[in-house]
Amino acid sequence: MPETPQEVLELLQTLLQRAYAPYSRYPVAAVVRSRSGRLYGGVNVENAAYPLSRCAEQSAVLQMVSAGEREIAEVWVMSRGKQPATPCGGCRQVLMEFAPPSLPVHCLSSEGSALHTTLGELLPHGFSRSHLNPKEG
Ligand code: THU
Repeated sequence: MPETPQEVLELLQTLLQRAYAPYSRYPVAAVVRSRSGRLYGGVNVENAAYPLSRCAEQSAVLQMVSAGEREIAEVWVMSRGKQPATPCGGCRQVLMEFAPPSLPVHCLSSEGSALHTTLGELLPHGFSRSHLNPKEG
């Protein structure tokens, strides 16, 4: 089972405190490591108009892209409770835009349980930009 780097663990724990989840009361934190090695964090940010809420993974990806990077190398997600949150369907699709199916995805609960998987396992046969640009695929 892969060890979570201490720096990532501390960042996830800090982010979890900052999540804005007044409606679900389900805080989530995400950290994305880009190809350059930089870490980008995000939290879920809910809204009184519920569909405008954003997931933690999407917040982290927005940070990475805003910083000028386009390739995700590794992802960690942290939630509370016994069962670690796995990225929702929408987040799997957002991750696929910037990562290959081999992307390691680590789902952690703050109580210590973990699921280590890949994007390809979470989203098999996903629709990606290779479908739109077959030459790039
Ligand atoms: N949520 C995330 O931010 N990421 C996940 O991986 C699962 C779910 C958020 C969305 C919403 O704010 C709350 O958790 C409950 O669904």
